[in-house]
Amino acid sequence: MRAAYAGLGGKKMKSAGHCLIASITPFHSVIRFGRFSSNLFYGSSSKQRTLCAYHQNSKLHSASLMAAERHPPPWFSVAPMMDWTDNHYRTLARLISKKAWLYTEMIAAETIVYQTGNLDRFLAYGPEQHPIVLQIGGNKLENLAKATQLATPYGYDEINLNCGCPSPKVAGHGCFGVRLMLDPKFVAEAMSVIAANTNVPVSVKCRIGVDDHDSYNELCDFIYEVSSHSPTRHFIIHSRKALLNGISPADNRKIPPLKYEYYYALLRDFPDLQFTINGGITSIEEVNAARIEGAHGVMLGRAAYGHPWQILGLVDSAIYGAPLRSITRRQVLEQYQVYGDSVLRIYGPKPTVREVVKPLLGLFHAEPRNVVWKRAVDAAFRHCTTIKSLFEETLGEIPDEVLDAPITEVPSGSTDTFIKAKSLLPPPYTVNEEELLYA
Ligand SMILES: Cc1cc2nc3c(=O)[nH]c(=O)nc-3n(C[C@H](O)[C@H](O)[C@H](O)COP(=O)(O)O)c2cc1C
Repeated sequence: MRAAYAGLGGKKMKSAGHCLIASITPFHSVIRFGRFSSNLFYGSSSKQRTLCAYHQNSKLHSASLMAAERHPPPWFSVAPMMDWTDNHYRTLARLISKKAWLYTEMIAAETIVYQTGNLDRFLAYGPEQHPIVLQIGGNKLENLAKATQLATPYGYDEINLNCGCPSPKVAGHGCFGVRLMLDPKFVAEAMSVIAANTNVPVSVKCRIGVDDHDSYNELCDFIYEVSSHSPTRHFIIHSRKALLNGISPADNRKIPPLKYEYYYALLRDFPDLQFTINGGITSIEEVNAARIEGAHGVMLGRAAYGHPWQILGLVDSAIYGAPLRSITRRQVLEQYQVYGDSVLRIYGPKPTVREVVKPLLGLFHAEPRNVVWKRAVDAAFRHCTTIKSLFEETLGEIPDEVLDAPITEVPSGSTDTFIKAKSLLPPPYTVNEEELLYA
């Protein structure tokens, strides 16, 4: 027997209002990892665990509540991207947008656990980067718990679990990333132990399916299981499935078709949860269009990295309604240079000039002489030992009117992509009644 989820779930779960507030667990400041390291949960049976999860959901931790209030809502975020959303990119992003939420690259729980003498290298970031979310990956409860505990002093604003990475190293040999979507019970346990070791909200980033497990109902089963057996109230939905047939991660970001209709159906069927839409969104107009159709939050990856000025430059005004910033790229580069030269080679030979300059390579996207400038930068990598000298040598290639141009407003725009998606919604989710009884 199956029953519609929304009404029943509504009774069980407290209305979120703001996902980041509702996903907070209350006991973290008193129950520390060490007290339950032999059994990472408060209760020993799965039923007790479930009750614990509900109990945790029903209370709010005041410190976390304050943290959630301190930051703008996560209406716009920059996706976690390995080798891309490092400290350098995030520093640049924050110089351009004060309000976008920033995600770290995925850091494997094992990396954190086995590098305890070296944690700053993986976890430290500048205070201006708030609001910032740490994404971790892994499939061992002890390591996820310990990694969360070790990350806690760094003050991230949310902890996210990667359930979307299809790379053979991660989802293949590693057996985590998107492979976790095939084991929602484990994900619920993982989210419970992560939440039990932090006082900030927790979230999951996932795909809409894996291989043949790609029906809307299977996606809902995953969301239902994780949200009803852990404190997770926020899901980021990369709206295409993953193929574990050996195609490259890059192909896995373009070959499986986008199905935004699944995302919008989740909003209908899980009204107490918060969902961020992700995948294939490339402009501020589309971000606004997705939000007009009801998206709680919109996450951009490649576009925010490849065209940081055109995307991030408009986030604060076009999405958050703040006055248009009067900053120019010359000013951004002046500030970035101070940062860049202060971090060069702090870990032996690293970071190199090339690594620190890499996030800047999209800054003049579509501008005159961008290609010439990038060629000059490439040549300068061979001998420049500071960011200052590299800028001095190359920025003359960019016309002053580009360097000194302020951010310009774009029309709020309309696109019918999301209207179309809403006309294609799959039938409402129905929950297996035994599952509800168990819950
Ligand atoms: C270079 C690169 C690295 C990525 N690394 C991660 C990662 O560490 N964790 C993750 O959840 N997703 C990762 N992704 C996926 C993005 O977060 C995002 O879901 C995907 O790119 C789709 O969004 P987009 O179309 O806006 O780029 C990565 C994507 C790229 C391009």
